[in-house]
Amino acid sequence: MSADVKSSDSEAAVPTRKVLLTCVQPSGGFHLGNYLGAVLNWRRMQDDYECYFGVVDMHAITQPIEPAKLRASTLELVAWYIASGLEPAKAHIFVQSHIIGHTELAWVLGCLCPVGQLERMTQYKDKVARHESVGAGILNYPVLMAADILLYNAHAVPVGEDQKQHLELARDLAEKFNRTYSPTFNVPEPFIPKTGARIMSLADPAKKMSKSDEDQSGTLYLGDTSAVLRKKIMSAVTDSGSEITARADKPGVTNLLHILSACTGRALPSLEAEFAGKGYGDFKSAVAEAVVATLESVQKKYAELMANKDHLLDVIKTGDEATQKTAYKTLAKVYRKVGFLERSR
Ligand code: TRP
Repeated sequence: MSADVKSSDSEAAVPTRKVLLTCVQPSGGFHLGNYLGAVLNWRRMQDDYECYFGVVDMHAITQPIEPAKLRASTLELVAWYIASGLEPAKAHIFVQSHIIGHTELAWVLGCLCPVGQLERMTQYKDKVARHESVGAGILNYPVLMAADILLYNAHAVPVGEDQKQHLELARDLAEKFNRTYSPTFNVPEPFIPKTGARIMSLADPAKKMSKSDEDQSGTLYLGDTSAVLRKKIMSAVTDSGSEITARADKPGVTNLLHILSACTGRALPSLEAEFAGKGYGDFKSAVAEAVVATLESVQKKYAELMANKDHLLDVIKTGDEATQKTAYKTLAKVYRKVGFLERSR
């Protein structure tokens, strides 16, 4: 509790809420794994934390993406955030490229970061190993992510397993900056929610549900129609045997049970009891109906938001403005500590 306590000698310390920050890349659709596995948890944090939810379009251009698609996906992701229950009145919802400070701080942090450490990042190594042409943006990606986090002095950063190494780098860079100059940044912690499902691909339950999976039949998008959702669920891979139970050797059934549990709020044992002796067909139909029913109100809200783009752009503008204030404060502090000459006003 150092950075989040405003203190002066004369006043009693006024504790403010801790900061939670997380971001998603607008590089494709918004899927059930994003919704059930991530955003539902963030939604619960909005009253307890000062929340920042970013749409990181600058990260999205580290891989080739069509400009029109990026522009559309960015707006759509903001709409999915809000439709899923993130509230602009409570949380700071912002678009990364609208805020001055992310790339500026990334530059400063990058100057403290050994290239070797970036070359050791698993995601970077995977890309190099696949012989893809690798731009400098891919190498520097984790530094920009560290800047996203440190610019708001985040305490808690909800991320998936695949992002832990990047968060570790953000912690290292915060410590290094604090040592090199003077204590400035809070050292962020990964945030592991107590509840929340890890949603796997319906086509290959060994893999996380993902927008970049080659086999898109395993990814349930919130933008899919009810008919498409039902079809994908009915053709989900199941396992040998016919038992409907959550077990390591039944990854397909286990994943569907987790989805059903998350959508109905019922515990696994009660679902297992209900489907004891029933077939996979009945079970999958129940999962499909639960998913369709759960997404209905989110999809409706999304459609309303997208039907009034001017209003949505206004909402983004308000979020950006509040976010920018914090970003400027951090950036000014960093520039001063680094020794950049103050600009005359
Ligand atoms: N790298 C993250 C991902 O692909 C997205 C991201 C960018 C992020 N900046 C962040 C996540 C800051 C959390 C905090 O999933």
